[in-house]
Order: sequence, then structure tokens, then C-alpha cells
Amino acid sequence: MSDRTLILVKPDAVKRGLVGRIIQRFEDKGFRILNIKMIEMTREMADDFYSVHRGKPFFENLVLFITSGPVVAVIMEGRNAIDAVRIMIGSTDASKAPPGSVRGDFSLGLTDNSIHASDSEESFIRETRALGLQ
Ligand code: CMP
Repeated sequence: MSDRTLILVKPDAVKRGLVGRIIQRFEDKGFRILNIKMIEMTREMADDFYSVHRGKPFFENLVLFITSGPVVAVIMEGRNAIDAVRIMIGSTDASKAPPGSVRGDFSLGLTDNSIHASDSEESFIRETRALGLQ
């Protein structure tokens, strides 16, 4: 079980001024921030970051959305980080995410769902590399 993970506060949440409130939740839970950076993703970075979704019908929209404004990338450390953070962000479709989760409390969208978090060690490595954080 990995003790590190990556979250991205997505452009919709950055534009709405939610960066501090979202990151606070993870600090409150007990995660420690190892690295934090505001990034304007290029098309190339987005293509790499979301390479597992290449060819899916929502891919083009996703790349357009994630490059539409700055994101805030945070590498965090804490016990069982990947699974624990996935639970805290809620389901991909924010309209179905439970209250108390980040998406449940801050979003209604599917593409614009406020936050991304690595779903595996392999994704964490690919994503941090795509963002130039490793
Ligand atoms: P994220 O956790 O960043 O991982 C892939 C992203 O694709 C997802 O959140 C959504 O923002 C976006 N997406 C858009 N449409 C879909 C869909 N139908 N299924 C899954 N992900 C989608």
C-alpha cells in the first residue's frame, strides 16, 4: 500500500476560489504536503497525464477542460494515502458523490468535478512524471 498520492485541484475549483478549503481537508485528515505547485497544463502534459483514457468518448473534452486554466497539484503523504484520498474525493460523477466528500460538497459536474486523485501506484508515477514533479 502506497503512502503517497497526488491530487489535482481542477480548473473549475481554482476559478471558484476553493483551493485552500479543499487542501485543508487533507491536512485536517492528517496528510502531510510533500510538494505543491500551480501548473498550467499543456495539451501534451494533459495527453500524458490522462493517457489511460485516450480513445474514450470523453477524452477530448477532458483535455480541453484540464488545460482551460491553472490546476494545483499536491503530493501528499499519509497512511494508505491512495485509497484514503479516493474515499475522501467521492465518485467521479459529482452529482452522485455523497455529502462530506470533496466532489459531494463542491461540485455537480462529471468532467468539471473539482478534483482528481491517483487511483493506483502506477497512476501516481505516470501522473507525477507527466506534470514534471518527479
Ligand atoms: P478524473 O478523476 O480526473 O479522471 C478522469 C476524468 O475524466 C474524470 O475525473 C472526469 O473529470 C472525466 N470524465 C468525463 N466524463 C467521464 C466519464 N463518462 N467517465 C469517467 N470520467 C469522465
